Amino acid sequence: MSPFICPLCRSHFTQKHNTQICENNHHFDIAKEGYLNLLPVNAKNSKNPGDNKEMMMARRAFLDSGGYLPLAEKLSALISQYLAKTNAPTLLDLGCGEGYYTSHIEQVLSDSATITALDISKVAIRYAAKRYKKINFCVASAYDVPMTDKSIDALIRIYAPSLDSELQRLIKPSGFLITVTPAPRHLLELREKIYDQVNEHGSENDAPQGFTKIEQINLNYPMRINNEQILKDLIQMTPFAWKFNEQKMLSLLAEKTWQIECDFNIEIYQKD
Ligand SMILES: C[S@@+](CC[C@H](N)C(=O)[O-])C[C@H]1O[C@@H](n2cnc3c(N)ncnc32)[C@H](O)[C@@H]1O
Ligand SMILES: [Zn+2]
Repeated sequence: MSPFICPLCRSHFTQKHNTQICENNHHFDIAKEGYLNLLPVNAKNSKNPGDNKEMMMARRAFLDSGGYLPLAEKLSALISQYLAKTNAPTLLDLGCGEGYYTSHIEQVLSDSATITALDISKVAIRYAAKRYKKINFCVASAYDVPMTDKSIDALIRIYAPSLDSELQRLIKPSGFLITVTPAPRHLLELREKIYDQVNEHGSENDAPQGFTKIEQINLNYPMRINNEQILKDLIQMTPFAWKFNEQKMLSLLAEKTWQIECDFNIEIYQKD
């Protein structure tokens, strides 16, 4: 059975050939890569919402280089620890991008787990579904998730937007919410190149309503980059990419190898 529900009437799907059909006869084709597009046309505020192909490809190339592998490994270890006692767990990666972290987590969970992931960017989901076959991907908004209430044991949100009311609705009582946000020194060397005065990121976030924080982790490590293209991919996937003017970029590229600090806040909350 599909872990998703109809975005129009919220009833369950039955699959017929390559189509999911809800109880009220709304049809959604399963794309050849295996994902569902459940984003209603009237919910889009642009033709192609979310990350575009260029940003998504830069993120994939950078992540494939292993620069954020310590984060993927830490998250996988935490999720397998927190879900150790849950039988046939359900996990949702909200704003999953091209699926890098979802796939790392999928590899540490048992075959009985149901792993779902969504993003509003169709191109990101297309690439994700093409590469990672064991994950149920759909195009949808994190603000209106086509899944039933209290259906998720663990929800992860890595640098992606969400609504507290949706987090509360989706996660089972005593279920977990795991978030990743930038910590104060994240990519400091790059930000110092751009800004005269670097604003620090926050070192802690408050629990969303209806949740209690149970663990706060700071993951900090130096990342060495020896390849100019990987540095450019990293810059391209950051929100400050457009602030690099040509002169700043040339002075950065002249360095040839780069040591850049990674600093993440990982926060684990439990539903009350
Ligand atoms: C910074 S990226 C992070 C992607 C992924 N979690 C990662 O860390 O590799 C933010 C993602 O949020 C997605 N996004 C933005 N608004 C969204 C929304 N309303 N619903 C779902 N995804 C959204 C973007 O398309 C993008 O893939
Ligand atoms: Zn329907």
